[in-house]
Amino acid sequence: MGRAAAMVTAAGAKLPVWERALPAWKDTVPGANGETGNERPLLLGVDYYPDQTPEKLWEEDARMIAEAGLTNVRVAEFAWGLMEPLEGKFDFAWLKRAVEILHKHGIAVILGTPSAAPPPWLSSKYPEILLVNKDGVTVQPGGRRFTCPTNKTYRKLSLNIATEMAKAFANTAGVMGWQIDNEFTLQPHARCHCKFCREGFQDWVKAKYGTLDSVNEKWGTVFWSQTYTDWRHIPVPLPSNGDPNPGLVLDYDRYQSHACASFAGEQLAMLRKECPKHFVTTNQVGAPLDTLNLREMYRDMDFVSSDNYPGFAQVFMPALASPEVMASMIALGHDSMRCVKGGKPFLIMEEQAGKAGQSFFAPQPHPGQLRLWAFQAVAHGAMGVNYFRWDSARFGAEEYWFGMLNHDRSKSIGFDEMARTVKEMKSLGREGLESSYVAEVAISFDHDSSWALSVQPGNSKLTYMAQLMAWYGSVASANTGTDVIQLDEDLWKYKAVFAPVQYVVSEKQAENIRKYVREGGTFVAGFRLGVKNESSQIVNAPLPGLLRDVMGVTVKDPVPVYTEKLGVKFGSQLAGAEAQCALWADLLKPESATALAMYTGAYESNAAITLNMFGKGKAVYVGADLDPVSLARVLRTVLAISGSNSAIQAPRGVEVTRRRAGDKEWVFVLNHTPEEQEVSLAGKFSAVVGNGPNNGRLPLRAYDLAVLQGA
Ligand code: GLA
Ligand code: ZN
Repeated sequence: MGRAAAMVTAAGAKLPVWERALPAWKDTVPGANGETGNERPLLLGVDYYPDQTPEKLWEEDARMIAEAGLTNVRVAEFAWGLMEPLEGKFDFAWLKRAVEILHKHGIAVILGTPSAAPPPWLSSKYPEILLVNKDGVTVQPGGRRFTCPTNKTYRKLSLNIATEMAKAFANTAGVMGWQIDNEFTLQPHARCHCKFCREGFQDWVKAKYGTLDSVNEKWGTVFWSQTYTDWRHIPVPLPSNGDPNPGLVLDYDRYQSHACASFAGEQLAMLRKECPKHFVTTNQVGAPLDTLNLREMYRDMDFVSSDNYPGFAQVFMPALASPEVMASMIALGHDSMRCVKGGKPFLIMEEQAGKAGQSFFAPQPHPGQLRLWAFQAVAHGAMGVNYFRWDSARFGAEEYWFGMLNHDRSKSIGFDEMARTVKEMKSLGREGLESSYVAEVAISFDHDSSWALSVQPGNSKLTYMAQLMAWYGSVASANTGTDVIQLDEDLWKYKAVFAPVQYVVSEKQAENIRKYVREGGTFVAGFRLGVKNESSQIVNAPLPGLLRDVMGVTVKDPVPVYTEKLGVKFGSQLAGAEAQCALWADLLKPESATALAMYTGAYESNAAITLNMFGKGKAVYVGADLDPVSLARVLRTVLAISGSNSAIQAPRGVEVTRRRAGDKEWVFVLNHTPEEQEVSLAGKFSAVVGNGPNNGRLPLRAYDLAVLQGA
């Protein structure tokens, strides 16, 4: 077992190494039943808003939250106005009273720093903090996340309130950790283009390139007479009649991602100093909605937190029509968030609790779906879930984002289902909830390729995220466990590594892939491989550029496909019905590789898919944008050839994952379909959650699940 070596605690429970990484939190003041020295509770809680709830209801809330078996709450991430009603005048008394009541009921607290929504006095006095969107329009207060990540005044005021909170709660009984800000990555305008960002970007470019000659050379600014003779002339990518310089735009995406990470980093450094006993995280969302390189954001935090709203995702992205496709997209998000910190268990800081939406909302999930969705996160490596939210807001923009309690504070339709889910998750214990996820293969999620392709997709309908979702859906449906990685990370433990539209390839990535394949790995790449270098310049070599030797082919011509009908005929190794080529066709000329499939029609003499034996490994180039059915068949076949096969054959729409701690293994079987399904299981299993198998057969009702252990 790779990075996650087991560690035996005094209690004999085998815990993965990362348990050591979390600050040792012991509760100093006697708990609800007078016990002291409580360990950090399992993180099975709810997001609670005492700032939006009459104080006379707090006691009842705390009692009901405890009765529901919930262990903790997240509070205050949107309470700046109450904590600093006037500049420099701080009032934490109300929050101290709320935390005290919660602690009395044995409920631990995660405090949120409120920099995602500053109060009106602040944006009125300091209008320069406002974000400027990609059209050059200054967004206005009134919503949230309308601030610039670079602006020093905003950073100072945000750090001020966070520091005052930290000083006030560093030794408060019940407080165990912090969430910095709220969802930097998910916002309508995930990029600021203001004058402060312009100066920040110019400084960042100067630090990166050192000389103007170097940046002019890397971006190729001689084109259209854009040569910079002064750092202060470098613009931000705002509308300019004519497409922007690809190198500048890619670096701007990198700068904005860094600006958000360093914004959070300031608060993190302060919390480390003021609250050394507390853990620190922040909540984001993973692929395919992610707009920031989260590895930088979370590098020094204790663990990753993610927000999970499958039902809302379904109405927010109609393409996710079928429960199966939706389940796959959500799984991609979980796998990408788990891998941000190398497989360390992550927390679902916000889990859907009912009907969900703002101006429009998703219907009440069907019976079983709330339980299923929460368990899907745990099945993919989460160590806990906090439901969003306790009550349903009766005012504000999210009145239709329903909580565990209805607007009249009665228990919601899914209340008992959520309480049952929490109880069942507790039966997995810390060992199960903080065990390692078993992944045999990996898929690349490359921000540079995503950002560079969005500037020059080549085919207006081509998007990185749609390709990533299609490839992930195909690979993950084999149920052998999929990590979502970056190609300069360790590849050695994977039987196969998949890379859809890996448009930008760095020297470091190319060398890492070459070594991996030479030593026996299977690398599977999609079209548009290695077209761009790290400055988003076209490589000065026949495609696929740096990986030509590994792939053993030359791209004779990259063909964006619009209306023309283009088919792909498969050879014996990939035998199957002729495929349709959708948006793209790289016409491949095998050098040392062999053709596994050919185009038909106008491009019939060209290879569409090739296999190259390189060193002890294999490299497969899928040059055609295959229809979903053919793509799934081809990638599943290559995956099986790489030796990655699931022992459990599950029908479509049923997901199987595994987690391990020492010699213990948990098998999660999740039925995402509205129909009854049956899964056949070789070997003896006992049930930890749900029903166990009977004579090797495991029936699952609609949206039902089981967690099994080898008997
Ligand atoms: C996001 C935010 C929350 C809330 C929920 C519901 O994930 O973090 O503040 O808005 O969604 O919309
Ligand atoms: Zn800005």
